[in-house]
Amino acid sequence: MTRGLFISFEGIDGAGKSTHIASVADLFRQAGREVVVTREPGGTALSEKLRELVLHEPMDPLTEALLMFAARREHLVQVIEPALSRGDVVLCDRFTDATFAYQGGGRGFDWQMLNLLERMVQTRRDGALRQPDLTIWFDLDPQIAAERLASARVPDKFESQPADFFSAVRAGYARRQAEMPGRFARIDAAQSIQVVSAAVSSIVNDWHQRSVS
Ligand code: TMP
Repeated sequence: MTRGLFISFEGIDGAGKSTHIASVADLFRQAGREVVVTREPGGTALSEKLRELVLHEPMDPLTEALLMFAARREHLVQVIEPALSRGDVVLCDRFTDATFAYQGGGRGFDWQMLNLLERMVQTRRDGALRQPDLTIWFDLDPQIAAERLASARVPDKFESQPADFFSAVRAGYARRQAEMPGRFARIDAAQSIQVVSAAVSSIVNDWHQRSVS
């Protein structure tokens, strides 16, 4: 049976990652793969309820981190693990790197505590830690992201944070990449949408070739 593939898409708000997920889904469908497109926080009925709370209610940083992981646990058990067991491709708009970047980097929440929560939530039955096989990080200067977001939509609790917060989130992503370079691919998201799209396709194609050969 074909092995399941787990790809996550990351970046600060306004980096433009969501635009590219649909084209990656098309690439895999054209290659004959079943694709599950999902997001965090969210992806199940309960996790979407938790999303509403964390995105709109003020709360203590530990509560926020715990709710992110609670939503993730439900999402893993109900959606991600079953899809990977079937051999599907899972495309997830954000995963745990976002918790390290936003709650760890942005909020300054203890990194080691996040490591502990990650292990609690993502350890599989066989004892291995579930991580994305590939993480595409859309890296963008927070000032450019803020300009893009200004005209986009009514900001949620995170989107309305100042540029300093997003600089710290960006540093959080960089730290995560440095800790696990093997699964990260960084794209300069300041480039045009066409250039970014070509970079995404090339990363996904190369990586898919390697994973099946
Ligand atoms: P989205 O708007 O890209 O769907 O992401 C929702 C927001 O939630 C975004 O501002 C990032 C934030 N977030 C965290 O703070 N921690 C997390 O673990 C995740 C998954 C998202």
